[in-house]
Amino acid sequence: MATASRADTLPFAWYSDEEQLRRERARIFARSWQYGGRADQVAEPGSFLATDAGGVPILVVRDRDGELRAFLNVCRHRGAVLMEGGGSRATIQCHYHAWTYDLDGSLRSAPRSEREPDFDAADWSLLPASAGTWGPFLFVNPDPDAAPLDEYLGALPEILARDIDLDGLVFHSRVEFGSNANWKIVVENFLECYHCPTAHPGFSDEVDVHPDRYLLEPHPTFSAQFCRAKATGEHGQFHLLYPNTGLNVFPGPPNLSIGPIVPNGANRTARYLDYFFAPDVDPKWREEFFAFDDQVGREDTALVESVHRGMASGMLEHGRLLLGSEPLLGAFQAWVAERVSAP
Ligand code: FES
Ligand SMILES: [Fe+2]
Repeated sequence: MATASRADTLPFAWYSDEEQLRRERARIFARSWQYGGRADQVAEPGSFLATDAGGVPILVVRDRDGELRAFLNVCRHRGAVLMEGGGSRATIQCHYHAWTYDLDGSLRSAPRSEREPDFDAADWSLLPASAGTWGPFLFVNPDPDAAPLDEYLGALPEILARDIDLDGLVFHSRVEFGSNANWKIVVENFLECYHCPTAHPGFSDEVDVHPDRYLLEPHPTFSAQFCRAKATGEHGQFHLLYPNTGLNVFPGPPNLSIGPIVPNGANRTARYLDYFFAPDVDPKWREEFFAFDDQVGREDTALVESVHRGMASGMLEHGRLLLGSEPLLGAFQAWVAERVSAP
């Protein structure tokens, strides 16, 4: 048997195993920064947003003092998910038995609790999580002791600012989609353009996908990809903030899409992308852009579902990366392996 090499992929069994996903939830998703929505959704004091961090329900609130807070969006009584959607509230009341929490998470009232001799409301505050904003984006992390978002983002804001002004963007729409593939397959497909000439003819007509000019750059907490439009030389950037936030800027008028890649069981991935554009972007261009993006997305869905079926056959132990063309997969897989095998 060949010995394991750096170029080996992760074991294919890791891509359809619920036990592996359980480890990833505990070691990765429960303690990572993930895109959770728009900062403007929790801008006003008293506003809240129910969101999700890799399957963990998170409630973000802007309290009356203007402080951004996050909690696990799970009632301390018997575990109901507390809030859905977003809006504005003076308190957070559970829809099941009406336990009512303050915007700082403390339990303010629990009907009939005065009949219980040893019930102390102070023991039943909402469990804290973390939230942070970067320009128009809201990020959440189930870990209350997470290192600050700014620190985690590292050089990403500065890199992005080379090609786009975040403050000049306006939210346009959210597009939801999904695929029958493990979340890591979806991430890995996003981390290389080795498949572009074969699988994305339309994209490869527009964008220069030559390996000397489509550049791949691993960073400690994210993977960066840089490209140019063939016709105009305009720049594009595609990033994955580990573990699961994708961020795309296509060459052309100011555009950006961002969203999480969320496991929904080991064999299915749910996604959404929030699209932002400069306010003066030509609507006709935007329509063509969505059609183009949708086409590339369909091509990718077919690819990842094919990979999932092949891996899940259980007949192959692992594959072999071409690290010259797939260095970002090497880096991502090492990052995952390090976390799931940590004691
Ligand atoms: S589960 Fe929330 S009040 Fe009972
Ligand atoms: Fe692709």
